[in-house]
Amino acid sequence: MVNAIATAVLVVLGSFYALAIGIEPAVKILPDGLTDFVYQEETHDEEFKRADANGDGQLDKCEFPNRNKWAAQSNEEQFKEFDTNADGFVSKDEQDAYFKKQEEEALRWKMEYYNNTLQEFDTNGDQLLQQDELAKLMRTRYSSEPNADFPFATFDLNADKGIDTEELEKFESNIPWDKVTPIEAAVQPAVIF
Ligand SMILES: *[C@@H]1O[C@H](CO)[C@@H](O)[C@H](O)[C@H]1NC(C)=O
Repeated sequence: MVNAIATAVLVVLGSFYALAIGIEPAVKILPDGLTDFVYQEETHDEEFKRADANGDGQLDKCEFPNRNKWAAQSNEEQFKEFDTNADGFVSKDEQDAYFKKQEEEALRWKMEYYNNTLQEFDTNGDQLLQQDELAKLMRTRYSSEPNADFPFATFDLNADKGIDTEELEKFESNIPWDKVTPIEAAVQPAVIF
């Protein structure tokens, strides 16, 4: 049963991915009623013909990896993401810009996450988390009750009587686990996998 559900989920996700990258999905019904998602297969001749981009009847080292349709498609997509001026070449500047953008996005996501956490637990709305608010975070997120000697104050690095997003990041990556008591779950969650 669990396998059937997991398979069904994979089938659905696989279909979306295939549609997103433009592969024609083919669906085959298995004897037990399970729907098995398979990709339209090419014959080896078709594979060779598609990979042979310059049509000279042989595959050079650049063409050879394209025999794999999946790899070819994903390579093409990634190339387009790097080649922002679409001149058919990825310059070093374009590669640098690509990775810089990735880093900036990761940073933005991170700050957004800590800001959202702050907003969620900032009951008094002062844009800082005080001891009682942090204790609630520990209970809600980590099912842990801070002990009496939990060093809240050490995380208020600029001593402004509360923890801001930057301090929250340091807090969440350095939680003193030896100074909390786990809260027993009233009902044990069912073990599925
Ligand atoms: C943090 O989130 C709040 C509420 O969503 C928003 O108003 C505020 O601009 C955000 N602050 C930063 C620094 O992103």
